[in-house]
Amino acid sequence: MNSLAIAPSILSADFSRLADDVRSVLAGGAEWVHVDVMDGHFVPNLTLGPVVLEGLAKAVPAFYDVHLMVTDPLEYGKRFAKAGANLVSFHLEAAMDPSSVIDGLRKENVQVGLVINPGRAPEELFPYLDRVDLVLVMSVWAGFGGQSFREDTPRRVESLAKEIARRNLSTRLQVDGGINAKTSRQVRDMGADTLVAGTSVFGASDRAAAIAALRA
Ligand code: DX5
Ligand code: ZN
Repeated sequence: MNSLAIAPSILSADFSRLADDVRSVLAGGAEWVHVDVMDGHFVPNLTLGPVVLEGLAKAVPAFYDVHLMVTDPLEYGKRFAKAGANLVSFHLEAAMDPSSVIDGLRKENVQVGLVINPGRAPEELFPYLDRVDLVLVMSVWAGFGGQSFREDTPRRVESLAKEIARRNLSTRLQVDGGINAKTSRQVRDMGADTLVAGTSVFGASDRAAAIAALRA
């Protein structure tokens, strides 16, 4: 059983004071920092490139969990790895040959994650469970922060958690989108061990309390 990791998403941070905002969530008890990378092509939104992570990672040492929402995950994943990512996740939907992306990213000495949007069956991740460090079940459609948690998510998480346990793997099981104290509980009960939260952490007046609430 993996220990619980809370990964606040900087998509909801104040980008004019990004380093301070990241320090605040680390001081508040977050284990990871989630970095949403959108290319305006795979999803209709643009966020940030490797240069931003490079500056941030130098200023604020942390475990950087990069969620790639881009059409060319190997190319950009390599660049984010060099910029300081500790883990790079990419969408199954974005890769013609997921195995070659996994192998290519491994050469960069980063952990690797594989993501599915709500339109994909969790079983589609089964062939890769022993080849990645983490699988991410999106509980909203990738692209924007602040969306509502999809009610079919706990069932999807349960399916993956059971398979991971059945095969005695240590693969992490992450959920991203609409996570707050209530939905955190729903997915943890089903076996999720890594939780991304943007709005509910950065939007809170007391971020440490918001992070604690995700563990309660
Ligand atoms: C959505 C992103 C999420 C998002 C989460 O595409 O992958 O990480 O920022 O934000 P909240 O917690 O506000 O749903
Ligand atoms: Zn994300």
